[in-house]
Amino acid sequence: MTEPSPIAPAPGDIARAAEIIRAGRLVAMPTETVYGLAGDALSDAAVAKIYEVKARPQFNPLIAHVSGPAMAGRFAALTPLAEALMAAFWPGPLTLVLPRRADSGLSNILTAGLDTVALRAPDNAHAQALIAETDRPLAAPSANPSGAVSPTLPDHVRAGLGESVDFILDGGPCRIGVESTIIQIDGTDAILLRPGGLARADIERVVGAPLKLPQAGAAPAAPGMLKSHYAPGVALRLNRRKAEPGEAFLGFGSTDDFNAVISANLSQSGDVREAAANLFTCLRSLDMACAKAGVETLAVAPVPDEGLGEAINDRLQRAAAPRQ
Ligand code: TXA
Ligand code: MG
Repeated sequence: MTEPSPIAPAPGDIARAAEIIRAGRLVAMPTETVYGLAGDALSDAAVAKIYEVKARPQFNPLIAHVSGPAMAGRFAALTPLAEALMAAFWPGPLTLVLPRRADSGLSNILTAGLDTVALRAPDNAHAQALIAETDRPLAAPSANPSGAVSPTLPDHVRAGLGESVDFILDGGPCRIGVESTIIQIDGTDAILLRPGGLARADIERVVGAPLKLPQAGAAPAAPGMLKSHYAPGVALRLNRRKAEPGEAFLGFGSTDDFNAVISANLSQSGDVREAAANLFTCLRSLDMACAKAGVETLAVAPVPDEGLGEAINDRLQRAAAPRQ
């Protein structure tokens, strides 16, 4: 697959999207990770609409998208560690969970009653233009029904949410293809809540120490991290070098299984970045093909846990987990 050509935002589209946001309604917005379902993060009504359209459990808080560190400082207390991570990786696929400022003005539904807030500056011209035009933080979970595979193309948004989204800003395919890495800043600790589009090793270089993990047994630290998530209809069997008779196959690198009835490859050359960008599109197209052909199981080749491989394996494990 070649690098997707970025589509420049049309001023008319940004103006129209901004008007919809200001009116408290919702816009599907491209980011470098996945498409988000965006609404005004200062408005309870807009945020409530996001939960309603996604049919998302109310205890699961949302990310607020900002232009950069200065705007982040209006809503959260920034520590030196948070500032160092922002300087290194923003705009980009890194979400920081920080103490929420008492005077933030953010919707309380956005943070689901927590005293922290998740903030991210997206590396995407459409998203940045929309934030600038509205001068508001934009609440945006992935633009899919809760529990379904995240959208990386406008067509995915249309297929999942249909008429319930007022406008889709078309930014073409998402460059990274998996959601942002989420790090909670707790004093001088950096805690990995969700592996994602920024590799753990890159973050650890800036933190200067291994990332901590959320305490075992505690309530899910990123409440959206339910075990079964990103769920296609077909059942997944992970770490398979080939398909059993009657199974479909999702390959990685040279593991193509030409005997499989239906197959795709995340990256022929074994590149984890390319695999991340292709992951959700491959899962969607294989899921549809399997449903049509009456194939019930998809065997998936092993993906190395390095770089973005950690996020890919996290999403595959959730897609394979028994439905809750
Ligand atoms: O790449 C992304 O992060 C995409 C694009 C659209 O920016 N957004 C995204 O949002 O994946 P969403 O809502 O699907 O995932 C947000 C995650 C959830 O798992 C949620 O529980 C967690 O962030 N989260 C939000 N606020 C939090 C907080 N205060 N503390 C802990 N986790 C939080
Ligand atoms: Mg999501």
